[in-house]
Amino acid sequence: MDQERLLRELTDFLRIPSVSTLPVHNQDCRAAAEWVAAELRRLGGRDVDFLGSETHPVVWGKGPDVPGAPTLLIYGHYDVQPPDPLAEWTQPPFEPTISDGRIYARGAADDKGQVFCLLKAIAAAPRPAVNFRFLIEGEEEYGSKVLFDLLQREPQRVRADVVLVADMSYVAPGWPAVYTTLRGLCYAEITVRTSKTDLHSGEYGGAAPNAHEELSRLLTRLKSEDGKINIPGFYTAVKRPAKAELAAWKKLPFNEKDFLNKRVQGKGLVGLKKYSVLERLWALPTFEIHGILGGFTGQGAKTVIPAEATAKVSMRLVPNQKLATVERQLAAAIRRFAPKHVTASVRFLHGADPAQIKIDHPAFTLLQRAFKEVTGRGTVAARAGGSIPVVPALGSAGAPVILTGIGLPDDRLHAPNEKLELKQLWDGIEVFSRFYELLGSQESGVRSRG
Ligand code: BES
Ligand code: MN
Ligand code: MN
Repeated sequence: MDQERLLRELTDFLRIPSVSTLPVHNQDCRAAAEWVAAELRRLGGRDVDFLGSETHPVVWGKGPDVPGAPTLLIYGHYDVQPPDPLAEWTQPPFEPTISDGRIYARGAADDKGQVFCLLKAIAAAPRPAVNFRFLIEGEEEYGSKVLFDLLQREPQRVRADVVLVADMSYVAPGWPAVYTTLRGLCYAEITVRTSKTDLHSGEYGGAAPNAHEELSRLLTRLKSEDGKINIPGFYTAVKRPAKAELAAWKKLPFNEKDFLNKRVQGKGLVGLKKYSVLERLWALPTFEIHGILGGFTGQGAKTVIPAEATAKVSMRLVPNQKLATVERQLAAAIRRFAPKHVTASVRFLHGADPAQIKIDHPAFTLLQRAFKEVTGRGTVAARAGGSIPVVPALGSAGAPVILTGIGLPDDRLHAPNEKLELKQLWDGIEVFSRFYELLGSQESGVRSRG
């Protein structure tokens, strides 16, 4: 492997600030799509195409035709989350920096570095007998609307024998994993209005309602201090993991104290204390406040009663919750909890159903073997707390969706100083090239469905 060349190429990809949620970066998202398309062409890809959007296109492509060989659909995303808070980066987020055997940049692990790994593994394999298909999207971090619409119109795009998604991490250093669930997501803005305009807090304070106060009360009504979410009906569909699965988690290299001290780096954990931390992270739904807008937040002091306040919130959903149901439940709870003197409204920005994956297909055994050969340990089954909105749709034509990845739990996804360990990348390229080779071999047990 020509590691220097690969690092130069990865750096070019990471340099593009393809932040999908911010319209000022539309051209950059397009540039990242162009980078992916050029890479697919370098790999001998055919029918490389931009689908669904000028600015955030889904990049589609096919590898060389291998008659009779299994079809592998590779999914990934070239968009990234906003890099702020910028001041906390030791190097600018879009000037990739290599130090201590790591590459630091927004997107290094989520997901550009991993897309890079899956693609470079193709060239590293000795002509695998696999029919590759590619769906690399540019709006994953904003709910995947473009790809959802495309798959609605053209569901045959996901026809494959196996789907491979590398947008996750090992469960711990040295412990590669495949994931059996992803949490879903319901992202909303809750707005509270209490008067026509802002009011002088001396003239009106004591008698006029305050939008921030009302919003705070509403939010704490929706979730109480013990971590319980009080949206009526919210937990009804939640299915607890089976005893055997909970027992298997006890054998994973996960330690609650280390999680607090090394990963959260806070003073204590919260949530429903009668469930283990892993169960809270993987199998229970959440309600998080992401930001609160309104009132006076400038420098100095202003004595004002704000007329309007908005909270950006999201709920993570678990099997068998449904996004559509949860949206209705949240809207009803807000109507019910808001006092009469308040106008409360909710706007849904994006969302995803939770995903559940059976891992009994022979392709999982092949990946297990590839990891074992390269890293010395096969994959363990785990669940993931994060979301990848299109995963249920990727499996809708019946192909097993392999959720795996080469990141590590401390890669700081979405946070300052995101990184990818180069050892993980080099191993990953070997693992996936071996996986492609195994998948294409006569004895793989994965037959082409034509
Ligand atoms: N790669 C992540 C999902 C992920 C993270 C899975 C960690 C497992 C462990 C993905 O890019 C992501 O961040 N998804 C968003 C989706 C949302 C914006 C619709 C998420 O989970 O917040
Ligand atoms: Mn991702
Ligand atoms: Mn992400």
